[in-house]
Amino acid sequence: MAERIPIAPNPTFAASEAPRSTSASTGERVFIETYGCQMNVSDTELILGILRPAGYRQATAIEDADVILLNTCAIREHAEQRVWGRLGELARLKRTRPELKLGVVGCMAKHVGEELTGASAAVDVLASPDAYRSLPRLLAAAGDSTQLDLHLDRAEQYEGIDPVRTRGIHAWVTIMRGCDKFCTFCVVPYVRGRERSVPPDEVVRQVEDHARAGGLEVTLLGQTVNAYHHDEVGFAELLARVAVVPGIRRVRFTSPHPADFEPQVLKVMASHPTIMKHVHLPVQSGSDRVLARMRRSYTRAQYLDLVERMREAMPSVTFTTDLIAGFPGETDEDFAETLSLVSEVGYESAFMFKYSEREGTIAHREIPETVSEEEKGRRLTRLVELVEVIAAERNRAWEGREVEVLVEGQSRRDASRLYGKTEHGKTVVFPANGARPGDFVRARVLRSTSHTLHGELMVAQAGLALLGGAA
Ligand code: 5AD
Ligand code: SF4
Repeated sequence: MAERIPIAPNPTFAASEAPRSTSASTGERVFIETYGCQMNVSDTELILGILRPAGYRQATAIEDADVILLNTCAIREHAEQRVWGRLGELARLKRTRPELKLGVVGCMAKHVGEELTGASAAVDVLASPDAYRSLPRLLAAAGDSTQLDLHLDRAEQYEGIDPVRTRGIHAWVTIMRGCDKFCTFCVVPYVRGRERSVPPDEVVRQVEDHARAGGLEVTLLGQTVNAYHHDEVGFAELLARVAVVPGIRRVRFTSPHPADFEPQVLKVMASHPTIMKHVHLPVQSGSDRVLARMRRSYTRAQYLDLVERMREAMPSVTFTTDLIAGFPGETDEDFAETLSLVSEVGYESAFMFKYSEREGTIAHREIPETVSEEEKGRRLTRLVELVEVIAAERNRAWEGREVEVLVEGQSRRDASRLYGKTEHGKTVVFPANGARPGDFVRARVLRSTSHTLHGELMVAQAGLALLGGAA
């Protein structure tokens, strides 16, 4: 999962669901800043689901908070540097408000551990991704000394906790936690622990709850989401169950591992119109030598074969990916193979990163760096340029076509415009013309850039071409 979302919006308690007062009520107001991937966004909702029954209220702004938690990422050094910088600022804030409690939770808390309290005595609480149930206890005890729970627990699924979701048409639903793959560059298995899957009935219950609250779309989340298995139930069966939950119109999942796609998953995807025909399929590199040293457990040919089989099963399917430039030992030839794979697959977009050595990983122990920072930068720039060209080309192919869009919100640049997504994951911006978030509309694509399709609403004789949506 990528460090993709700089700071996620804080989900808010709806006015009608003000925190119930409990005997443990503290009345303290908590503000959570979320760094990193969608899994952290989902975990922030989970943490609020743990703190609310313990009597915490949600602060709408950081200035109003009694407790500030940073939900952190450790995937690359840059992610951690941002949190160190933020901690410096918050330490200054704490000097003016000594009663403020400050916590660091999530992947960086696990990765860096007690060092986080050394440099900045401002940190009161540390909790690893499996220790969120301890947060009420840790926060209650916070004061003179730092309170910490950094254990990993391969049984922790957070069953029975209702995440406090952002009230919208979309919900993130975590279906598995941790990772057993141990790719040599990746810190995730060390900071999030071993793979475990949420019972299928619990997943379906959460999806049904979302639909009952007016939700239309879910994204199933997991570090290797298609490795999901609980007793006899695998990913294909779970996906099929979620796809038919009444009221749910769109199902997505992220991020799958290319080695875990069983043929049955392709069949389920192809046979359910509610499952979106877009797959985020991290490849990392196009060179077999590099893939082997990354321990990705597939070859270039196997990856391309999977893409081919998916296109056979779902001719319109689109792909996005993650790519790493400058993994140790990556030669010019290896990198050229990554460029050629990118062209061959034809991605809609990609998350691209310079390799960042992470302490504790296999690569850190065994694979010395060979590519200079400058060279990594050059390779990243070339990758970005290539992906942009291909994305622009692919977007141009949509011009003149009609697409179905689930309206998500107002365009940030122009309040008279709305944006939404197509089933292929493309963002479409169009003049609102009476449509609202939560509506399904048909739009005609007029022009495009490498990131966005610009369109107009199709207006039927009877008026706006609404296809139904939120009641
Ligand atoms: N350096 C650079 N990128 C990394 N990723 C994971 N670990 C590292 C690292 N050490 C990238 C991979 C992964 C995405 C979530 O982050 O591309 O798919
Ligand atoms: Fe990291 Fe590899 Fe697991 Fe993805 S599959 S979380 S890259 S170890």
